[in-house]
Amino acid sequence: MNNKTVLVVGGAGYIGAHMVRGLLDAGYDVVVLDNFSRGHRDLVPAVPLVEGDLGDTLLLNEVFSRYPVDAVMHFAAYSLVAESVARPLEYYRNNVSSTIDLLEAMSRHRVRRFIFSSSAAVYGEPSVAGAMREDHPTCPTNPYGATKLAVERLLVDCAAAGILSFVSLRYFNAAGADASGELGERHDPETHLIPLALQVALGMRKRLQIFGTDYPTADGTCLRDYVHVTDLVQAHLLALESLLGGGDNAVYNLGNSKGYSVREVIEVAQHVSGRTIPTTPAERRAGDPAVLIAESEKIRQELGWRPRYEDLKTIIETAWLWHQREAGREGAAAGPPV
Ligand SMILES: NC(=O)c1ccc[n+]([C@@H]2O[C@H](COP(=O)([O-])OP(=O)(O)OC[C@H]3O[C@@H](n4cnc5c(N)ncnc54)[C@H](O)[C@@H]3O)[C@@H](O)[C@H]2O)c1
Repeated sequence: MNNKTVLVVGGAGYIGAHMVRGLLDAGYDVVVLDNFSRGHRDLVPAVPLVEGDLGDTLLLNEVFSRYPVDAVMHFAAYSLVAESVARPLEYYRNNVSSTIDLLEAMSRHRVRRFIFSSSAAVYGEPSVAGAMREDHPTCPTNPYGATKLAVERLLVDCAAAGILSFVSLRYFNAAGADASGELGERHDPETHLIPLALQVALGMRKRLQIFGTDYPTADGTCLRDYVHVTDLVQAHLLALESLLGGGDNAVYNLGNSKGYSVREVIEVAQHVSGRTIPTTPAERRAGDPAVLIAESEKIRQELGWRPRYEDLKTIIETAWLWHQREAGREGAAAGPPV
């Protein structure tokens, strides 16, 4: 116990649920706020759970009046790039407007520490050949990335006005699952490569589409930087300790500084699962850069972040454990075949 309470907004989602567990393990009290638009009730352990929308100001007032919140971790957002292109208003409403509601409520209740789930999508098309540092130009190529950048900017302005202190964490590709096998990645619809590959391995999908096989990379497919969800959680804990200790506002990349191609990921997923993963080539997706790799030296230097699951095979092994259990649970729920 350390007598600090953290409000986790979006705590029923993939990364938020892992965060709740990490906070509990570190001795924090946790309150979760989620509207279950994309999350899952069964991923939230026995902590106070407020079901409702981030944009509900009355509800936010109630939450901050009822619980002695010391810091807020904000995971709640819509995060599908293609959907954001088709429905930008919904994205700005949910990701930006509702965040303003949250920050206003925090300001009214004098809650001053804020940790934000930002994204590599703030950068847009890389202008450097290798890994990107935090001072790389930010020029998002889709509304999703633009909403993340808008909130980052808002935080800088709020901090300058003395309203709060913040850490924005720009995740690259979050992946993997808690080593216990009890928590994992369950997006609906799923658009992320590793869960899709493992669902094909489990026979839940017929084949995996590879979006773009003519990129200027060694095997023609995109390179991405995968960071384990438990390592993301550790970075949040370090950011929280820093803010609680009066540390500076900051923006950090979170990745492993190594790019894996889509084909490499599939190969490792086949090896880990021991199953063949049939693929089919598809058109490039608009706004998908060839290479996205993080330079994460800044958080290592300033907060002492040390990722434990840097190796892609280990990341996929943890995901495979979860997906097998999840498939078993779904099978059991559906009952025996007739
Ligand atoms: N998964 C990744 O690889 C990745 C990469 C970069 C950034 N991010 C960011 O990290 C955060 C978490 O990602 P995730 O993969 O866990 O997403 P997720 O969709 O699994 O979780 C988001 C959670 O927020 C909740 N939510 C959304 N809007 C809400 C609202 N208005 N009110 C209350 N609850 C709301 C959803 O129900 C869900 O439980 C997001 O902000 C996302 O943009 C994720």
